[in-house]
Amino acid sequence: MDKFYERYSKTTADGSHTLYLPGLDEHYHSTHGAVSESRHVFIEQGFDHVSCCQRQINVLEVGFGTGLNAILTLERSAAESLEVEYVAVEPYPLSMDEAKNINLAGQVAGGRFREEFLHMHGMPYGKRTFLSGKFHMVKHKHRVQELDLPDNQFDMVYHDAFAPQFQPEMWDVNLFARIYRTMRTGGILTTYCAKGEVKRALKACGFILTHPPGPTGKREITRALKTD
Ligand SMILES: C[S@@+](CC[C@H](N)C(=O)[O-])C[C@H]1O[C@@H](n2cnc3c(N)ncnc32)[C@H](O)[C@@H]1O
Repeated sequence: MDKFYERYSKTTADGSHTLYLPGLDEHYHSTHGAVSESRHVFIEQGFDHVSCCQRQINVLEVGFGTGLNAILTLERSAAESLEVEYVAVEPYPLSMDEAKNINLAGQVAGGRFREEFLHMHGMPYGKRTFLSGKFHMVKHKHRVQELDLPDNQFDMVYHDAFAPQFQPEMWDVNLFARIYRTMRTGGILTTYCAKGEVKRALKACGFILTHPPGPTGKREITRALKTD
């Protein structure tokens, strides 16, 4: 079986599930807490820094995976009545059975978005789909490197790839330069990774970096700003 498809769920320290890939010996999230890590890295240190200044936000997620970042963004969008256009990229999507058996929707907003969570996983590819309130999503079953990304489109990028030692091509200058072009000036990218080689690649593409404190178990993370 493909090393990206042989996977099973595990419970992390905050009670939420993640997926584990034995072929890579890699988890989709921190074992210290999947929901707490994602909420910290992508929502509090990312999305909230954009939504403080604008009511309409275009989000690109590199590595949709379980859909956790998307449902956390939906939760924020609903709570603050923010308009979100969410583009999710994932070459190795979960089956509907995997999506039903993972407990993440039940761990966010008291389970209020269970239906939307399954809808995200079941919706057609390449078609802008209404999910709830002011939240729309387009999902692509592609490697991000194969997508024709428009210039100056995204305010927020969730860069949630497997770690550089497993997928170095997800963290190199080639990909970051494409992501830089697809972002608007003032847009930000966040990622859990703060390795030296990743910082250097982001800087080489023109990003200005800051390193907020990480979630439990991680000293710092990376927030990258696109300036003029
Ligand atoms: C660390 S996991 C995170 C997934 C997701 N954000 C979540 O919360 O579950 C990395 C994800 O990147 C996906 N991925 C692997 N190669 C990719 C590529 N070339 N382009 C886009 N996504 C990729 C994996 O299949 C996996 O779902």
